[in-house]
Amino acid sequence: MKKLLVDVDCGVDDAQAIMLALATPKVELLGITCVHGNTAVENVCKNTLRVLQACNKLEIPVFKGADRPILGNRLNAGTFHGKDGLGDAPDPNMPGLDQLQKESAVSAIIRIVNENPGEVSLVATAPLTNLALAVRMDPSLPGKLKGLYIMGGNTESRGNTSVCGEFNFTADPEAAYIVLNDYQCPTYLACWEFTCYNKLPWEFCDAWLEQKTHKARFMAKIFRHSIEASKTERFEREFIAGSGLISCDSYAMAAAVDDSFVIESDQFPVSVELVGTHTRGMMIVDTLGLLNKTHKAFIIKKVDMAKFKKMMMAALK
Ligand code: BDR
Ligand code: CA
Repeated sequence: MKKLLVDVDCGVDDAQAIMLALATPKVELLGITCVHGNTAVENVCKNTLRVLQACNKLEIPVFKGADRPILGNRLNAGTFHGKDGLGDAPDPNMPGLDQLQKESAVSAIIRIVNENPGEVSLVATAPLTNLALAVRMDPSLPGKLKGLYIMGGNTESRGNTSVCGEFNFTADPEAAYIVLNDYQCPTYLACWEFTCYNKLPWEFCDAWLEQKTHKARFMAKIFRHSIEASKTERFEREFIAGSGLISCDSYAMAAAVDDSFVIESDQFPVSVELVGTHTRGMMIVDTLGLLNKTHKAFIIKKVDMAKFKKMMMAALK
């Protein structure tokens, strides 16, 4: 059994990533921790419970975490994910926040990893505030992780939030800095440009959503807003290498659930720019080794796309 702990800012691609994990055999989801990001943390909690309800998995514990970055103001990605983070398409019977665990997300991360030393893979598909706070509370945490899988950062200084910044890193640069510098465990990065170069064709998306299942109907409903946004001129410009479905967070999840998914990666020390007029939040790849860091992250370059399509299809079965 692969034990996973997932940290999300549940927008539509986080929802897809969660559903992918739930559909993978021999994967145990120990909990889902929520953080600000695509929308306010209260919405993130509601959205996560709603995804679990759609998958009949409300028994998985959900924890509320940080409501803002370590410094500065909270961003959101309402233009793409909808104001509520899930396409502004509510269901009549949405689960209430009374279903949340009382324990905070940061304390749950520390507890669950310490209860399962060496066994937990942590998947972060959101601003890294919860993870940064957790390592400050318990510096031994990274040494007890099996692996860390992050959707975030960029490799060609192409942003989707600022000129040079990807959303998850730009929404909390200090947290990204702490995590990339302090989590000295096997770390895999699914960066923005990589996800753009590996988008799925719209024809795949049509077939994916046309599956005759409750999960597919749920996804079609919450995804409509983002699909329409993706086809606008603004997003077509932002999405490098043409139009198509980019399920950013699902690449990090697929790497965590299946060891053979990543075919090729670069291994370099990485960090994050914290100052700069246009570069705050941009990931730095130290190809020359000038930062004197020993820890190197795996920057995912090539994955098994045939396998990815199968996993995505299975997520809505
Ligand atoms: C990331 O930002 C969020 O909007 C998505 O959910 C994804 O985690 C992509 O930059
Ligand atoms: Ca996300």
